[in-house]
Amino acid sequence: MKQIEFIKSVYKIKDLPKNDLQHVILCGRSNVGKSTFINKLFGKKKIALTSSAPGKTRSLNFYLAENKFYIVDLPGFGYAKIAKKERETWERLIQDYLKIDKNISLAFHLIDSRHKPTTLDRLLNGYLRELNIPYIVLMNKIDKLNQSEFAKSKKNIMNVFDELLLGENFLPYSSVTGKGKKEVENILNKLFLV
Ligand code: GTP
Ligand code: MG
Repeated sequence: MKQIEFIKSVYKIKDLPKNDLQHVILCGRSNVGKSTFINKLFGKKKIALTSSAPGKTRSLNFYLAENKFYIVDLPGFGYAKIAKKERETWERLIQDYLKIDKNISLAFHLIDSRHKPTTLDRLLNGYLRELNIPYIVLMNKIDKLNQSEFAKSKKNIMNVFDELLLGENFLPYSSVTGKGKKEVENILNKLFLV
């Protein structure tokens, strides 16, 4: 993937793009590495804002990729330390977007490989399934794990989500080492014939 361009930040459903382009969304808990994923996949250091403190992304951020499809960076679900009201506003916006928008062709659900999937991961998985949005779980930040931790984490995630098949809808990933990047590029190429 080479080309990416920031299009807009959406705070209200009525401001969603109105065209036929397909959307690929990045979702998952706050701080799991969604914005970093976009930067590293396209080799642009700072196109998506990232932070070591959770809660950086606060709107649905639309990027046009390869002039063919949107990549959408979503705010992290369930970040507890911001005002409840603001959090509820984001969560409603994300839920409404998932429900209303018919152009979402794929979701990458990022899970932090250092932690077991949380209630929020189950909730998000439930939404995606209920809404028939195809998804791929990325077990992210695997550069932080040794071999036995890796095996344990993989098992934990597959125990919680028993529909996952390694190498198909479940990929180990690291934006630091580039592990999994080729697989993701292949998936996007297949979908959009980039
Ligand atoms: P929100 O916008 O709060 O939802 O967070 P986010 O999911 O967009 O996370 P972000 O990309 O801002 O990354 C959070 C932190 O994790 C940053 O310090 C990143 O450098 C770090 N990070 C992201 N991906 C990886 C990875 O694959 N490995 C390691 N070691 N760190 C990562
Ligand atoms: Mg972010």
